[in-house]
Amino acid sequence: MTERIAILISGRGTNMEAIFDRIASGDLDASVAFVASDSPAAAGLNKASSRGIPAHVLPYDRGKAEGERDLLSLCRENAVTWIVLAGFMRILSPDFVSRFLHRIVNIHPALLPAFRGAHAIEDAWKAGVRLTGVTVHLVDSGTDTGPILAQRAVPVHDDDTPETLEERIHGTEHDLYWNTLRGLFSGGLKPLSR
Ligand code: GAR
Repeated sequence: MTERIAILISGRGTNMEAIFDRIASGDLDASVAFVASDSPAAAGLNKASSRGIPAHVLPYDRGKAEGERDLLSLCRENAVTWIVLAGFMRILSPDFVSRFLHRIVNIHPALLPAFRGAHAIEDAWKAGVRLTGVTVHLVDSGTDTGPILAQRAVPVHDDDTPETLEERIHGTEHDLYWNTLRGLFSGGLKPLSR
């Protein structure tokens, strides 16, 4: 069965584009029902529209409850089977998460449980770690706490700057996300149960 996904963004949407590309090339069996952002300024919205994918702005300016109400309606109208967070910088409420329990996936630019939160790359850089990376996980009601599906390490080089490190992390994300989604959608990839 081809999964019907909704992709949520807040910004540039480069992870979203990498997923589009893998669907177009046939590497990932999924269809993007819509893209939605909490912010009308998200550059990724135009990128989605230019590929013919419906792009919506959720009314978070009227509060989280309103934003999530619209999101829930869109997901139901479009018979969405998975919600893919790709740089979506809002925390979904426990009520919303419970309606799509273990059907929401997130990508985070650090090796969780290290460096949770909205500034993971900067935080890892400031901490002086030699190794950081990328995590793809299922979303639960916490912040970056859900069951881990996949991780890939990114070493910090002596001559790195925050910019070069960020670039390498993004490159890693773009390859890890679609690969993980493919495993998840085929049923072959599950979090380790502990
Ligand atoms: C990505 O690095 C993603 O991991 C991060 O936002 C960036 C979005 O980039 N997400 C988080 O930090 C979530 N806590 P993109 O808009 O170019 O895909």
